[in-house]
Amino acid sequence: MAGVADRAESLSRLCVWVNGPIIVGAGPSGLAVGACLREQGVPFVILERADCIASLWQKRTYDRLRLHLPKQFCQLPKLPFPEEFPEFPTRKQFISYLESYAKQFEISPRFNQSVQSAKYDETSGLWRVTAVVAGDDSRNRSAEVEYIGRWLVAATGENAEKVVPELEGLEEFGGDVKHVCDYKSGEAYRGKRVLVVGCGNSGMEVSLDLCDHDASPSMVVRDSVHVLPREVLGKSTFELAVLLMKWLPLWLADRILVVLAWLVFGNVEKLGLKRPSTGPLELKNTQGRTPVLDIGALGKIRSGEIKVVPGIKRFIQGKVELVDGQLLDVDSVILATGYRSNVPRWLRGSDFFFSKDGLPKSPFPNGWKGSYGLYAAGFTRRGLSGAAADAVRIADDIGRLWKEESEPAKKLICLP
Ligand SMILES: Cc1cc2nc3c(=O)[nH]c(=O)nc-3n(C[C@H](O)[C@H](O)[C@H](O)COP(=O)(O)OP(=O)(O)OC[C@H]3O[C@@H](n4cnc5c(N)ncnc54)[C@H](O)[C@@H]3O)c2cc1C
Ligand SMILES: NC(=O)c1ccc[n+]([C@@H]2O[C@H](COP(=O)([O-])OP(=O)(O)OC[C@H]3O[C@@H](n4cnc5c(N)ncnc54)[C@H](OP(=O)(O)O)[C@@H]3O)[C@@H](O)[C@H]2O)c1
Repeated sequence: MAGVADRAESLSRLCVWVNGPIIVGAGPSGLAVGACLREQGVPFVILERADCIASLWQKRTYDRLRLHLPKQFCQLPKLPFPEEFPEFPTRKQFISYLESYAKQFEISPRFNQSVQSAKYDETSGLWRVTAVVAGDDSRNRSAEVEYIGRWLVAATGENAEKVVPELEGLEEFGGDVKHVCDYKSGEAYRGKRVLVVGCGNSGMEVSLDLCDHDASPSMVVRDSVHVLPREVLGKSTFELAVLLMKWLPLWLADRILVVLAWLVFGNVEKLGLKRPSTGPLELKNTQGRTPVLDIGALGKIRSGEIKVVPGIKRFIQGKVELVDGQLLDVDSVILATGYRSNVPRWLRGSDFFFSKDGLPKSPFPNGWKGSYGLYAAGFTRRGLSGAAADAVRIADDIGRLWKEESEPAKKLICLP
């Protein structure tokens, strides 16, 4: 981003004036905002804590992962997926698409810069964003950089941090325990008895992967879950849901999806998978709980290769005790217990816009813009299509303000 930021060395830290928005996070949302700003001719800086773009996809997802929505719902603004990509691109294909995206729009994030705090300075009307730069000098010491600018775009994602629940006795368990964000493949688990905690898309897919590698997974389902087929009669269930929601009230669309799932899977309650009383779309909209789109785990549950077990009471050495009193011998535990936003950790004084869980308070489609030049991309619980829609709106808004402020009379003057 030559020319965007002017550096001024100070005694204790570096201070950088950003002539344009400061975007925090170089995942799909941050990249999409960058691409749209590039088209508007607005300069920007992207700060990324990892050493690469899309670190969630590159470093914290498993090998067999594919997009579970059809590609037309996952592409970012202004660049469709290559035609030769399958309907559900693989993780590798998605990463290569994002790399071409960054290249095409000349997006060069500042890597290894973890934002620790961002606050709005009312006196100057500017955002002050502090990032720690890992191993920045010749002695590999960390340094602190303060970025100052007129606009701030939070694009750190709904899945920025792993959720690790407190489970009684886990420290006594003695076997290998990891969160699913560190799981790559079932290869390391051949022949092992693995307890998979959680039955979201991650828990289901990892259990399936473990089966495919001759491990014996037991999947903890502590409550209820909606499982839908990924496709019905060759059409993606997501596409069908979008279509239904266009023409029908939510409750009816939900009813149709549940009936369809019943026709495809039969009664899954018999398998230990109780359906929530609220429909899958309503649950997603109100609580952000994503339905599971099945890619084969259900068949393995039916055949007994994946065992469904109830909630955990406690761990003891080499075993887990379940709430129904069963005692299971377990070699390893994989926590597929979800993720959370980290915005409350670094964005100061913005509880007018973000709630305690780190998501914007205003529901979709109004959660992308706050006050004082604050924006949020990718927090709509609508996956990549929500991120793409946010990016277009944010860039249009900033582009308009940028043009107004660039008029000679209103031009911002940065004093030395
Ligand atoms: C396993 C898995 C599979 C998924 N599959 C799909 C799918 O098929 N379709 C779909 O639509 N959605 C899917 N999602 C949801 C997915 O997270 C998003 O759609 C997409 O990655 C969101 O992009 P994002 O840029 O908002 O967040 P992220 O991809 O999480 O990117 C945020 C970036 O911000 C960086 N960051 C975080 N905190 C800081 C900080 N303090 N300072 C600097 N940088 C920071 C992170 O390192 C990261 O690179 C999936 C999620 C998971 C976990
Ligand atoms: N192929 C794909 O594209 C793909 C693959 C994986 C994930 N994803 C996406 O990634 C996001 C995260 O999915 P995820 O599956 O990792 O997380 P998730 O949807 O938040 O699911 C977390 C699971 O952990 C359970 N859980 C949490 N704490 C628990 C505890 N103490 N004991 C027992 N169970 C516990 C939850 O149960 P409760 O419901 O009872 O709380 C839930 O089943 C979602 O948007 C998902 O769609 C997509």
